[in-house]
Amino acid sequence: MSSFNDYFAHQKRFFLFFLTFSHSQFLRVKLHQTTPTMRNPPHYCTIVSLFLLISSFFPSFSAIDYIARGSSLSVEEHATSFLVSEHDSFACGFYEVGDNAFAFAIWFKNSADRTVAWVANRDRPVNGRGSRISLHKDGALVLTDFDGTVVWSSGTSFGGSVDQVKLFNTGNLAVVDSVSNLLWQSFDSPTNTLLAYQLITKKTPLVSSSSRGSVSSGFYRLYFDNDNVLRLIYDGPEISSIYWPNPFNKVWDNGRSTYNSSRLGSFNKMGHFYSTDKLKFNASDYGQGITRRLTLDYDGNLRLYSLNKEDNGSWSVSWQAIQNSCEIHGTCGRNALCVHEAMFEYCSCLPGFDVIDPSDLSKGCRPKYNFSCKPNENHFLEIPLADFWGFDLAFNAPISFTECKEICEQRCTCQAFVYREEPAECYPKNILFNGRSSSNSNTTAYLKLPKSVPLSQFSAAPSAQPLICDDTKVEQTTPEFYQKTGGKTKWEYFYGFVSALFVIEALFIACGWWFIFRREQMPTATEEGYKMISSQFRRYTYAELRKATRSFKDVVGRGGSGTVYKGVFDDDREMAVKKLEDVIHGEEEFKAELSLIGRIYHKNLVRIFGYCSEGSHKLLISEYIKKGSLDKYLFDSGTSATLLGWRERFKIAVGVAKGLAYLHHECLEWVIHCDVKPENILLDMDFEPRIADFGLVKLLNRGGGGGGGGGSNLSRIRGTRGYIAPEWASSLPINGKVDVYSYGVVLLELVKGERVSNWVMDGAEEVGLVLRRSIVALKEKMESGEEGWIDEFVDHRLDTELNWKQAMLMLQIALSCLEEDRNKRPTMDSVVQMLLLGDD
Ligand SMILES: *[C@@H]1O[C@H](CO)[C@@H](O)[C@H](O)[C@H]1NC(C)=O
Repeated sequence: MSSFNDYFAHQKRFFLFFLTFSHSQFLRVKLHQTTPTMRNPPHYCTIVSLFLLISSFFPSFSAIDYIARGSSLSVEEHATSFLVSEHDSFACGFYEVGDNAFAFAIWFKNSADRTVAWVANRDRPVNGRGSRISLHKDGALVLTDFDGTVVWSSGTSFGGSVDQVKLFNTGNLAVVDSVSNLLWQSFDSPTNTLLAYQLITKKTPLVSSSSRGSVSSGFYRLYFDNDNVLRLIYDGPEISSIYWPNPFNKVWDNGRSTYNSSRLGSFNKMGHFYSTDKLKFNASDYGQGITRRLTLDYDGNLRLYSLNKEDNGSWSVSWQAIQNSCEIHGTCGRNALCVHEAMFEYCSCLPGFDVIDPSDLSKGCRPKYNFSCKPNENHFLEIPLADFWGFDLAFNAPISFTECKEICEQRCTCQAFVYREEPAECYPKNILFNGRSSSNSNTTAYLKLPKSVPLSQFSAAPSAQPLICDDTKVEQTTPEFYQKTGGKTKWEYFYGFVSALFVIEALFIACGWWFIFRREQMPTATEEGYKMISSQFRRYTYAELRKATRSFKDVVGRGGSGTVYKGVFDDDREMAVKKLEDVIHGEEEFKAELSLIGRIYHKNLVRIFGYCSEGSHKLLISEYIKKGSLDKYLFDSGTSATLLGWRERFKIAVGVAKGLAYLHHECLEWVIHCDVKPENILLDMDFEPRIADFGLVKLLNRGGGGGGGGGSNLSRIRGTRGYIAPEWASSLPINGKVDVYSYGVVLLELVKGERVSNWVMDGAEEVGLVLRRSIVALKEKMESGEEGWIDEFVDHRLDTELNWKQAMLMLQIALSCLEEDRNKRPTMDSVVQMLLLGDD
């Protein structure tokens, strides 16, 4: 059986091997050499593969019913030797939590992603070789690592009466004696999940996991407080704060009671939850026969899930504690705001603060400036609709605004104050935590900043990052030594490997695809559970997109990277669905690039909601911007679109610059757009520009070698005639300055209302040359100090509306962006700063 075990244990490696060598002669030769005595290999092969084929479809075949006293399970056999409950709904054994790292866990056997219900060693994974779980003669269930260290133990000895370890249909793992008394049970030590009839007690809180798909402990807890109330708390390394039930209300107002000190809670098979503080709720699918779990998720929300047996074992949420994720404390960390907009929530650093760790926004933001304690060296930035929960220096009400400001000014530790007009309330804060902002808030926050920092630079909304962006977060609980495998078993491993290969060749078609199919399903199923609550970056199925776009009927645009369709989704949201053409082939690279794009959020960039990747179908799903692209409004002389006024033009110039500056300077990685042009600038309802098609450089084949990193190589020309920088023609590595150049062209076009490429009268001349000549001429005029020429240059359709100062500014900036020597071009950051000087 050892070959069989190895097959399962290393199926991934085998699969890769097979892709490469499956039918090569090399493999056959090897096989015959290692099995020289076998007279009739085909027969042997058929029998064994039939046998294995059957057992692979009945995986419980070699699973075990109990661990007897004095025996054990070893980690090497994790794929086949695990406990299974009688009705086949739960399994318990070694569960892979990282590369060669395992936990002893109970999981839902029928869920697509083997959702974990309980873990013995959450924060101390054991090695994939040599670790075992044993029921000692004295009655203790003990988990040992490769070197024999005890990592976890049920903790008690029961002497002679102990009989076995059994997994019950309820999902409870128990040490029982010969007359089936429970001597120890996993139900007494929940991790992040409560099963039906399992009690949460005063001694056993639920503790969230640290990230999606991980088992290690996070910072959120569901616990009974000293006043007998069941609460949710963020209990982080620096700060702890309670967020559920609503801390603004009195206990009674939240429908709870402090009266009963038993401190117990559980839900029954119907999906009804009750706890002694009078918390009651029902699952939305209230009724029998459904497998449920109550889980404190990694994001701090408490959710009741139901298993969909028909639908591949995915989970759906049938109740959750908190509807708006911004009410969960700790999500955005210190010095940040959780912004709640109609469609989604995201984290954003406060003005004057920088994100500490872009991959983990809960670490919050750090100040960019040094603060002074002297009252006259600070001033306050108004942040409308914002509020911070907790950490008040003093509660001062009722009090006038000026007095409130005075209090914060005088106190060195005061970082901001929150003021509410009706009734007049003042909250000076010494820690800025649990910040949030939503349009229905009636408070305003005033942030203390050094006087040396002009407040005007923060006139726009702060740049922001999406709330849930850890799809790519890599679980890193694996200590160094888990990567190494013991040398002792190398030869066993080798023989096992070779004979297993022999067997699998026959099995490959039968089970291989079954496995792949199962694995492919996993991410979708996991994400389904979250679909209900968050509209964050996710994966869509092709079928879903075909339905939404009515079989790709509504074409709204065609670009270099693909065709864009309009789609309407189940929740009536309109989205743009882009079929990418000529995409890079590596599935992993594709997903990695997308996860980067998915984390980009800025109000001047088109928001990407998700992707689809099924075989050759590669699609991007993004916001649908109703007004369409800038070129229609700027160049169309027809009556279809209204003429863009000056105000809008300037607004577009500023917005596009901000969007590009975000891509170039503030993103997690440098992103060069490489195709800035009016067609890629979309306009939303109030003419705020949104840049589309960013981040595609590395996704598309023609992009050449990656375009992300600072000094990267883009070998082949991308971009559009009339907008491409001269260095594309040289062998210089491409950097963000190509976008600065294209932006310069767009600026000229905004001012002139005409395509630069149309300046070429007879079409015979090279656009670049004509542009160069015009630039030189413009420069001379500008330096001459005269003003009459501007009249001729600026879009004559504008007439009276024009703002001279802004027009001059835009032209000046355009000219510096169009410098032939890219080192002389400004950065997008400084372009934004320059433009803001002209804003009034
Ligand atoms: C507290 O609740 C428990 C469980 O519901 C119940 O058995 C007990 O009688 C209650 N105690 C009081 C004092 O109401």
